Amino acid sequence: MGYVLAVDQGTTSSRAVVFDAALKVVASAQEEFRQIFPRSGWVEHDPADIWATVAATSRAAIERARVDVAEIAAIGITNQRETTLVWDRASGEPVGNAIVWQDRRTAEVCARLKAEGAEADVTARTGLLLDPYFSATKLGWILANVEGARARAEAGELLFGTVDCYLIWKLTGGRVHATDATNAARTMLYDIGRGVWSDELCALFGVPMGMLPEVRDSNGDFGVTRADLFGREIPILGVAGDQQAATIGQACFTPGMMKSTYGTGCFALLNTGVEMVRSQTRMLTTVAYQFDGTPTYALEGSIFIAGAVVQWLRDGLKIIREAGETQPLAEKADAAQDVVLVPAFTGLGAPYWNAECRGAVFGLTRATGPAEMAKAALESVGFQTRDLLEAMQADWDGAGGGTVLRVDGGMTASDFAMQFLADILGAPVDRPEVLETTAKGVAWVAGWRAGVCPGPEDFAKDWALERRFKPAMDAAERDRRHARWRAAVQATMAVV
Ligand code: G3P
Repeated sequence: MGYVLAVDQGTTSSRAVVFDAALKVVASAQEEFRQIFPRSGWVEHDPADIWATVAATSRAAIERARVDVAEIAAIGITNQRETTLVWDRASGEPVGNAIVWQDRRTAEVCARLKAEGAEADVTARTGLLLDPYFSATKLGWILANVEGARARAEAGELLFGTVDCYLIWKLTGGRVHATDATNAARTMLYDIGRGVWSDELCALFGVPMGMLPEVRDSNGDFGVTRADLFGREIPILGVAGDQQAATIGQACFTPGMMKSTYGTGCFALLNTGVEMVRSQTRMLTTVAYQFDGTPTYALEGSIFIAGAVVQWLRDGLKIIREAGETQPLAEKADAAQDVVLVPAFTGLGAPYWNAECRGAVFGLTRATGPAEMAKAALESVGFQTRDLLEAMQADWDGAGGGTVLRVDGGMTASDFAMQFLADILGAPVDRPEVLETTAKGVAWVAGWRAGVCPGPEDFAKDWALERRFKPAMDAAERDRRHARWRAAVQATMAVV
C-alpha cells in the first residue's frame, strides 16, 4: 500500500492528487465550480457543487493514476479555510449555501462588536481580529437568517463545519463530525491556547455548542470513507487548512521559517514553534499544525489581492491576454517612471485591515503605459509582502535577521516578481522544485500517519530548491521605494 490521495478543496476549484510514498505526483484531476454572488460583497458556494467536484476529481485522479484502490493507504484533506456550512444531522441536507471566507455581509456585526469593546477578548482567545473573514459571524448570520435554523440548532438537529469537516462527514457517510486544530483556529470560536471551543465566544456569537465538531490533531484519525465511494473503505488520516498544509509542504518545521503562497491573495505564515506570539501589528496568531497532541503556532499575514492583480490587468484593463505576458511587458517599463499601484480592490488586509478604502495609482505621467502598469502590479505584491515581514519582525525576535522566504503558488512562476520580492525584502526568496506544496503537505501528513511516508526530518530533507533569488537592490534604494509605497498606502486609506 504505497499511495496517498490528497483532496485540495479550494475557493475556485477542487483538486485531487495521487502521490506515491516518495511524495511524487502520480496523477491529478481538477474541476472549477460555481461562484455565487447574491449581492455586492456576498460570496457563496453550493455545498452540492463542493461535494460533487471533490467526489468526481478524487475518482478521476485514482483512475488516471492506474493504481488499485487497495494500494491507497490514506486520504488527506486540505481546504479553503473559514468558509461556513450548516447541515441537518439526520438527513445531511445543508440549510443553505456555504458562506465563503471572502463574504463581507457581517461587516456591520463586526463593527458593532468592536465598538462594544469585544475585540481584545476575541483576540486573546483566538489570535484573530474581529473581521467578517472568519467563521463565527457567518455562522451567527445563518442562525439568525435561515428560517427555523436557531430553534433546530438549539434542539441539536443542526451541525456546523468548515469545508474539511463537511467533506469528512460526506466521505464517512455521516459517521464522523470532526475537524482539525488548524481549521478550528479559523472559526473565531476556538481557544487556541487551551485547545478547546470557547464557551464565552459561543455565547458572544450566539452559537449552540452542540453543533460544533470534535477537534482532532492534523495527523488524527478521521474515520474511513464509505465503501461504495471508491470501492473500498479508505482511512482519512490527515487534515489541515490549505495555508497550513502549504506551510507543512514547504517543510517549515523550525521556528523562524516562513512560507508565502501567491494565489488569488497571498498568505504568509511564520512558524513560531510552541510559542504563541501575540501580535502588536495586527498579524494573526494561528495554529500552524497540531501533531500528536502538540500545537505548533504561526504568525500569519493575509493579503487579499496578489495574483488577482494580474487577473485585473487581463480582464479589467485588458492590457494582457494571459498571465504569462505580464513579465515580458513589465520588463519593457521605463525605469525612470516610479508608478505605484495600491491594489486595494476589496480594501486592504494585513497589516492595515481597512475594509473601506479602494485601489489607487500614483506617479502617472503622459508617458505611462501598459508596461509601467504591469511592472507596478507585480511590484505591489512585493511591497505588500514586505509590510508583512516587517510587521512580523516587529512582533517577534525569531523573525529577524536570517529569514528566508519559501514561496509557492501561480505567481511565483514570474522571475521578475520573485527578484523584486527579494530586492524589496532585502532577504533571499527560495522557490522549490515542487510547487504543489498544499496537496503535498497534507498527503505527507496522511502518509506519515499511515506509515508509508517518512517522518518530519526526512520529509524536510527532501525539500529541494529550484532557484534562490538573492537581494540585489542597494539598501538606500530599497528603503526609498518602500517609503514611497507606505506613503501611497496612507494616501489611499485617506480617500474613502
Ligand atoms: O483563508 C482563505 C484561504 O484558505 C483560501 O485559500 O487558495 O482557496 O484561495 P485559496
